[in-house]
Amino acid sequence: MAVREICCLPEKILRQKAKKVPRVDASIKRLIVDMVETMQQAEGIGLAAPQVGVSLRIAVLQMPDEEPFTIINPKLVRRAGERLIMEGCLSVPGYQGEIKRSVSITVKGLNELGKEIRIKATGLMAQALEHEIDHLNGVLYIDRIEDEGNLYKIEPKKDNVEP
Ligand code: CO
Repeated sequence: MAVREICCLPEKILRQKAKKVPRVDASIKRLIVDMVETMQQAEGIGLAAPQVGVSLRIAVLQMPDEEPFTIINPKLVRRAGERLIMEGCLSVPGYQGEIKRSVSITVKGLNELGKEIRIKATGLMAQALEHEIDHLNGVLYIDRIEDEGNLYKIEPKKDNVEP
């Protein structure tokens, strides 16, 4: 178990489409443990495998005051509504931006045991799931900023929750 280094822009792996996990084996489980530790140490609410240099479709998430969870090979099967929110990313330190995210979503995938799961989410969790699925497709929140004026410089590591 280890905290891994988080890749930041302009590292190319952040722009690659990550590969599907063929089988949830011991090495994948070890990677997930490391990802959870890395996310918690960075005080993030989500982390995608490409952010620790592994181009696989895995994300870990942890909402404030809740237990962490894992989603492998996630598929967005439903999205509804639209809202403007502020978002940041551990791989884009020092910035936040205003973008549109869905109000509610449904995601299908596998958990850390390789079991099929279906997650219905709203609010911050829907935002974080969309953010992490974007990472797996090589997309960053800054790509969703419609106007340059909606990207703000911030003090890195204040009280911001960053997926
Ligand atoms: Co991010």
